[in-house]
Amino acid sequence: MVVQIGPSLLAADFAKLGEEVKAIEAAGADFIHWDVMDGHFVPSITMGPSIIRALRPHSQLFFDVHLMITPVDPYLEEFAAAGADSLIIHPESGPHCHRSLQKIRRLGKKAGIALNPSTPLNALDWIIPDIDVVLVMSVNPGFGGQEFIPEQLEKIRQLRQLLNNRSPKRLIDIQVDGGVNNKTAAAVIQAGANRLVAGTSVFRGPSSQYKENIQQLRNP
Ligand code: DX5
Ligand code: ZN
Repeated sequence: MVVQIGPSLLAADFAKLGEEVKAIEAAGADFIHWDVMDGHFVPSITMGPSIIRALRPHSQLFFDVHLMITPVDPYLEEFAAAGADSLIIHPESGPHCHRSLQKIRRLGKKAGIALNPSTPLNALDWIIPDIDVVLVMSVNPGFGGQEFIPEQLEKIRQLRQLLNNRSPKRLIDIQVDGGVNNKTAAAVIQAGANRLVAGTSVFRGPSSQYKENIQQLRNP
Protein backbone atom coordinates (compact mmCIF):
# COMPACT_ATOMS: atom_id res chain seq x y z
CA MET A 1 0.00 0.00 0.00
CA VAL A 2 1.28 3.47 -0.86
CA VAL A 3 1.70 5.55 2.27
CA GLN A 4 1.14 9.27 2.07
CA ILE A 5 2.62 11.79 4.50
CA GLY A 6 0.88 15.01 5.49
CA PRO A 7 2.83 17.44 7.65
CA SER A 8 0.74 19.27 10.24
CA LEU A 9 1.51 22.95 10.02
CA LEU A 10 0.82 23.27 13.72
CA ALA A 11 4.50 22.47 14.28
CA ALA A 12 5.75 24.90 11.62
CA ASP A 13 7.29 28.28 12.34
CA PHE A 14 4.25 30.59 12.18
CA ALA A 15 6.49 33.59 11.59
CA LYS A 16 7.34 32.18 8.14
CA LEU A 17 4.41 30.00 7.23
CA GLY A 18 4.73 30.64 3.48
CA GLU A 19 8.33 29.43 3.46
CA GLU A 20 7.44 26.41 5.57
CA VAL A 21 4.66 25.41 3.16
CA LYS A 22 7.08 25.66 0.23
CA ALA A 23 9.77 23.76 2.12
CA ILE A 24 7.58 20.75 2.91
CA GLU A 25 6.25 20.67 -0.65
CA ALA A 26 9.84 20.59 -1.94
CA ALA A 27 10.65 17.95 0.67
CA GLY A 28 8.09 15.54 -0.81
CA ALA A 29 5.01 15.97 1.39
CA ASP A 30 1.89 14.42 -0.17
CA PHE A 31 -0.62 16.76 1.44
CA ILE A 32 -0.79 19.51 4.05
CA HIS A 33 -2.73 19.03 7.27
CA TRP A 34 -4.29 22.15 8.83
CA ASP A 35 -5.25 21.96 12.49
CA VAL A 36 -8.08 24.38 13.15
CA MET A 37 -8.79 24.82 16.87
CA ASP A 38 -11.27 27.14 18.54
CA GLY A 39 -10.40 27.19 22.25
CA HIS A 40 -13.80 25.68 22.92
CA PHE A 41 -14.04 22.19 21.39
CA VAL A 42 -10.34 21.87 22.24
CA PRO A 43 -8.28 24.03 24.62
CA SER A 44 -6.04 25.74 22.03
CA ILE A 45 -6.78 28.40 19.44
CA THR A 46 -4.86 28.11 16.18
CA MET A 47 -5.84 29.30 12.72
CA GLY A 48 -8.92 30.26 10.75
CA PRO A 49 -9.90 30.35 7.09
CA SER A 50 -8.02 33.56 6.37
CA ILE A 51 -4.67 31.81 6.92
CA ILE A 52 -5.64 28.98 4.59
CA ARG A 53 -6.82 31.47 1.97
CA ALA A 54 -3.54 33.38 2.22
CA LEU A 55 -1.43 30.26 1.73
CA ARG A 56 -3.57 28.64 -0.98
CA PRO A 57 -1.78 30.34 -3.92
CA HIS A 58 1.58 29.21 -2.55
CA SER A 59 1.06 25.46 -2.80
CA GLN A 60 -0.21 22.84 -5.24
CA LEU A 61 -0.65 20.29 -2.47
CA PHE A 62 -3.95 18.87 -1.28
CA PHE A 63 -5.16 20.93 1.73
CA ASP A 64 -6.53 18.60 4.40
CA VAL A 65 -8.43 20.65 6.96
CA HIS A 66 -9.05 19.15 10.40
CA LEU A 67 -11.81 21.12 12.09
CA MET A 68 -11.70 20.96 15.88
CA ILE A 69 -14.42 23.55 16.34
CA THR A 70 -17.97 23.66 17.54
CA PRO A 71 -20.40 24.49 16.13
CA VAL A 72 -18.84 23.39 12.87
CA ASP A 73 -21.70 23.79 10.39
CA PRO A 74 -21.67 27.59 10.11
CA TYR A 75 -18.02 27.53 8.98
CA LEU A 76 -17.95 24.74 6.39
CA GLU A 77 -18.66 27.03 3.48
CA GLU A 78 -15.97 29.51 4.45
CA PHE A 79 -13.28 26.84 4.81
CA ALA A 80 -14.29 25.33 1.48
CA ALA A 81 -14.06 28.73 -0.20
CA ALA A 82 -10.70 29.41 1.45
CA GLY A 83 -9.15 26.50 -0.45
CA ALA A 84 -9.65 23.34 1.59
CA ASP A 85 -9.69 20.11 -0.44
CA SER A 86 -11.05 18.03 2.41
CA LEU A 87 -12.93 18.93 5.54
CA ILE A 88 -12.65 16.58 8.50
CA ILE A 89 -15.12 16.95 11.34
CA HIS A 90 -15.58 15.29 14.71
CA PRO A 91 -18.94 13.58 15.31
CA GLU A 92 -19.09 15.43 18.65
CA SER A 93 -18.82 18.85 17.04
CA GLY A 94 -22.42 19.23 16.00
CA PRO A 95 -25.83 17.65 16.50
CA HIS A 96 -26.28 16.42 12.90
CA CYS A 97 -23.08 14.84 11.72
CA HIS A 98 -24.72 13.20 8.68
CA ARG A 99 -26.05 16.51 7.49
CA SER A 100 -22.63 18.16 7.97
CA LEU A 101 -21.02 15.43 5.84
CA GLN A 102 -23.63 15.90 3.14
CA LYS A 103 -22.92 19.59 3.15
CA ILE A 104 -19.18 19.01 2.74
CA ARG A 105 -19.84 16.78 -0.27
CA ARG A 106 -22.24 19.34 -1.71
CA LEU A 107 -19.46 21.90 -1.45
CA GLY A 108 -17.40 19.59 -3.67
CA LYS A 109 -14.89 18.62 -0.98
CA LYS A 110 -13.74 15.28 0.40
CA ALA A 111 -15.51 14.52 3.66
CA GLY A 112 -13.81 13.07 6.70
CA ILE A 113 -14.64 11.95 10.21
CA ALA A 114 -12.15 12.21 13.06
CA LEU A 115 -12.39 9.71 15.89
CA ASN A 116 -11.09 10.82 19.27
CA PRO A 117 -9.23 8.15 21.24
CA SER A 118 -12.42 7.45 23.23
CA THR A 119 -14.80 7.52 20.25
CA PRO A 120 -15.75 3.99 19.20
CA LEU A 121 -15.69 2.73 15.63
CA ASN A 122 -19.44 2.31 15.68
CA ALA A 123 -19.70 6.10 15.34
CA LEU A 124 -19.16 5.23 11.65
CA ASP A 125 -22.02 2.74 11.41
CA TRP A 126 -24.43 4.82 9.37
CA ILE A 127 -22.15 7.30 7.66
CA ILE A 128 -19.64 5.19 5.75
CA PRO A 129 -21.21 5.98 2.35
CA ASP A 130 -20.82 9.68 3.16
CA ILE A 131 -17.12 9.76 3.99
CA ASP A 132 -13.84 9.61 2.06
CA VAL A 133 -11.45 9.46 5.00
CA VAL A 134 -11.43 8.37 8.64
CA LEU A 135 -8.96 10.24 10.82
CA VAL A 136 -7.97 8.08 13.77
CA MET A 137 -6.71 10.35 16.54
CA SER A 138 -3.78 8.73 18.28
CA VAL A 139 -3.65 11.60 20.80
CA ASN A 140 -6.43 13.68 22.32
CA PRO A 141 -6.96 16.66 20.03
CA GLY A 142 -5.81 20.06 21.16
CA PHE A 143 -2.02 20.08 21.12
CA GLY A 144 0.92 19.03 19.02
CA GLY A 145 3.85 17.13 20.46
CA GLN A 146 1.88 14.63 22.54
CA GLU A 147 2.70 10.99 23.00
CA PHE A 148 1.16 8.35 20.74
CA ILE A 149 -1.58 6.28 22.45
CA PRO A 150 -0.69 2.67 21.55
CA GLU A 151 -4.23 1.33 22.18
CA GLN A 152 -5.31 3.14 19.02
CA LEU A 153 -3.39 0.60 16.94
CA GLU A 154 -6.12 -1.95 17.59
CA LYS A 155 -8.72 0.57 16.46
CA ILE A 156 -6.80 1.08 13.21
CA ARG A 157 -6.61 -2.71 12.69
CA GLN A 158 -10.33 -3.17 13.27
CA LEU A 159 -11.12 -0.22 11.01
CA ARG A 160 -8.99 -1.67 8.21
CA GLN A 161 -10.81 -4.97 8.53
CA LEU A 162 -14.19 -3.28 8.58
CA LEU A 163 -13.41 -1.31 5.42
CA ASN A 164 -11.89 -4.33 3.64
CA ASN A 165 -14.97 -6.42 4.36
CA ARG A 166 -17.33 -3.92 2.83
CA SER A 167 -18.81 -4.40 -0.56
CA PRO A 168 -19.01 -2.77 -2.96
CA LYS A 169 -15.45 -1.64 -2.34
CA ARG A 170 -14.73 2.07 -2.39
CA LEU A 171 -11.46 3.59 -1.32
CA ILE A 172 -11.78 5.18 2.11
CA ASP A 173 -8.51 6.44 3.51
CA ILE A 174 -7.35 5.62 7.01
CA GLN A 175 -5.41 8.60 8.25
CA VAL A 176 -3.69 8.67 11.63
CA ASP A 177 -2.95 11.84 13.54
CA GLY A 178 -0.92 12.46 16.69
CA GLY A 179 2.46 11.36 17.96
CA VAL A 180 3.46 9.84 14.61
CA ASN A 181 7.26 9.68 14.43
CA ASN A 182 10.00 7.33 13.32
CA LYS A 183 9.34 5.09 16.32
CA THR A 184 5.56 4.77 15.91
CA ALA A 185 5.07 5.02 12.12
CA ALA A 186 5.90 1.40 11.31
CA ALA A 187 3.23 0.04 13.67
CA VAL A 188 0.68 2.54 12.35
CA ILE A 189 1.31 1.46 8.75
CA GLN A 190 1.33 -2.21 9.70
CA ALA A 191 -2.05 -1.78 11.42
CA GLY A 192 -3.52 -0.56 8.14
CA ALA A 193 -3.19 3.22 7.87
CA ASN A 194 -2.37 4.64 4.44
CA ARG A 195 -2.06 8.33 5.36
CA LEU A 196 0.04 9.66 8.23
CA VAL A 197 -0.16 13.14 9.70
CA ALA A 198 2.91 14.36 11.53
CA GLY A 199 3.84 17.74 12.95
CA THR A 200 6.70 17.57 15.43
CA SER A 201 8.58 14.81 13.62
CA VAL A 202 8.47 16.57 10.22
CA PHE A 203 9.33 20.12 11.33
CA ARG A 204 12.40 18.92 13.20
CA GLY A 205 15.73 20.61 12.59
CA PRO A 206 16.39 23.07 9.75
CA SER A 207 14.23 22.96 6.61
CA SER A 208 17.04 21.14 4.79
CA GLN A 209 16.21 18.16 7.01
CA TYR A 210 12.48 17.98 6.25
CA LYS A 211 13.02 15.66 3.29
CA GLU A 212 14.81 13.09 5.42
CA ASN A 213 12.20 13.45 8.18
CA ILE A 214 9.40 12.73 5.71
CA GLN A 215 11.33 9.85 4.15
CA GLN A 216 11.77 8.22 7.56
CA LEU A 217 8.02 8.21 8.08
CA ARG A 218 7.30 6.84 4.62
CA ASN A 219 9.77 3.97 5.02
CA PRO A 220 10.19 3.51 8.77
C1 DX5 B 1 -3.79 17.39 17.49
C2 DX5 B 1 -3.66 17.59 16.01
C3 DX5 B 1 -2.52 16.86 15.35
C4 DX5 B 1 -1.19 17.08 15.97
C5 DX5 B 1 -0.05 16.48 15.21
O1 DX5 B 1 -4.91 18.05 17.94
O2 DX5 B 1 -4.83 17.18 15.37
O3 DX5 B 1 -2.53 17.13 13.95
O4 DX5 B 1 -0.95 18.43 16.16
O5 DX5 B 1 1.12 16.89 15.80
P1 DX5 B 1 2.23 15.90 16.37
O6 DX5 B 1 2.74 15.14 15.17
O7 DX5 B 1 3.21 16.81 16.96
O8 DX5 B 1 1.58 14.99 17.35
ZN1 ZN C 1 -4.93 17.16 13.12
